[in-house]
Amino acid sequence: MKYLLGLAGLAALASAAPAETPTRIIEEQMLERNPAAAASAAAVTIAPGSNPFATRTLHANSVYASEIAAAMANVTDATIKTQASAVAEVGSFLWLDTIARVPLATTLLAETPSTEILGLVIYDLPGRDCFAKASNGELATGQLATYQSDYIDPIAAAIKAAPQTAVALIIEPDSLPNLVTNINATACAAAASDYKAGVAYALKTLNLPNVAMYIDAGHGGWLGWDANLQPGADMITSVYKTAGSPSQVFGISTNVAGWNAWSELPGEFSTTSDAQYNKCQDEQRYIDAILPLILADGMPAHAIIDTGRNAVQGLRLAWGDWCNVNGAGFGVHPTSSTGNDLADAFVWVKPGGESDGTSDSTATRYDSFCGLADAYKPSPQAGTWNEPYFEMLLKNANPAF
Ligand code: BGC
Repeated sequence: MKYLLGLAGLAALASAAPAETPTRIIEEQMLERNPAAAASAAAVTIAPGSNPFATRTLHANSVYASEIAAAMANVTDATIKTQASAVAEVGSFLWLDTIARVPLATTLLAETPSTEILGLVIYDLPGRDCFAKASNGELATGQLATYQSDYIDPIAAAIKAAPQTAVALIIEPDSLPNLVTNINATACAAAASDYKAGVAYALKTLNLPNVAMYIDAGHGGWLGWDANLQPGADMITSVYKTAGSPSQVFGISTNVAGWNAWSELPGEFSTTSDAQYNKCQDEQRYIDAILPLILADGMPAHAIIDTGRNAVQGLRLAWGDWCNVNGAGFGVHPTSSTGNDLADAFVWVKPGGESDGTSDSTATRYDSFCGLADAYKPSPQAGTWNEPYFEMLLKNANPAF
């Protein structure tokens, strides 16, 4: 990999040359190793209303590349190794899923060339994953102040310190959709005010000129139901307005860590008994349906869609099955050529190979969805590498590696 600088690397550099700050050293290293970075010294402004991905490639970050490299150290099959290196070159998002991981943002901001855009997922709300168990987070409902001061503020500071880097942020996957459809669940009802205030704070605080934000809107099988579309649009836009209608909100993200096709006629779940109540049988029909409602509510309305693992359809027994779907494959690579003016880009958000949740039924974060017949087993804790699953995604990739 080109300019991998882990945290340990940063510390070593800093102690070798105490007169210089780590940031300064990274800048110098980048200029040496990557002439393109010289041009990146200029501050970036992502113009509201533009497509941030039209002129920039999604950065293939060194954290995912390191994860793949570490996994490949134990693999002997030469074909898999070669294909895995190619996966590491595909752009993808990094999930800032704990306060401890926030410093990684600084590393990745420094390594992103001016021709690229860094993708980060903001994912640490108090009471996170209120309707499931697999991704319950480190902050409990009520810890909004900690979320603001220890999580969002340092991310904003890191981005402010790197005005030369363009950044795409996906804001809190699943959070607002859960408030639309699962507010009757005790944990979601309890978390609702922290979710709304937390997302609004994130939108306001991360509203920097070099940033494009996309608020997560679930997927077509979630907010795409007739009865959910308008409430979904209203929920997202009301939080956007609470934040003061920040200029750097560009729209929504959909299918994050999901499995839906971008375009499939008549649709994977079009023959189910309730299909008549959901006209959003693929993500294209979903964004075409919800974005006009979002626009009418006064928010910019474009979308980015996670195509990281959606190459194979017909695998899920039910549309709501979300955990480690068995038989999945890597999907279309990140691109701004979507064929739909409302879709800014297809992106890889969920790092393929990282688990959605443990299949160990005795674990605290065991969610029964991860034990369903269509879920891959065994699977480790959410976010943890699962080598056989990664190899399955490779084997079933479309386009092939
Ligand atoms: C997990 C996170 C992880 C992310 C990406 C989520 O399901 O809860 O810990 O970073 O997936 O793999």
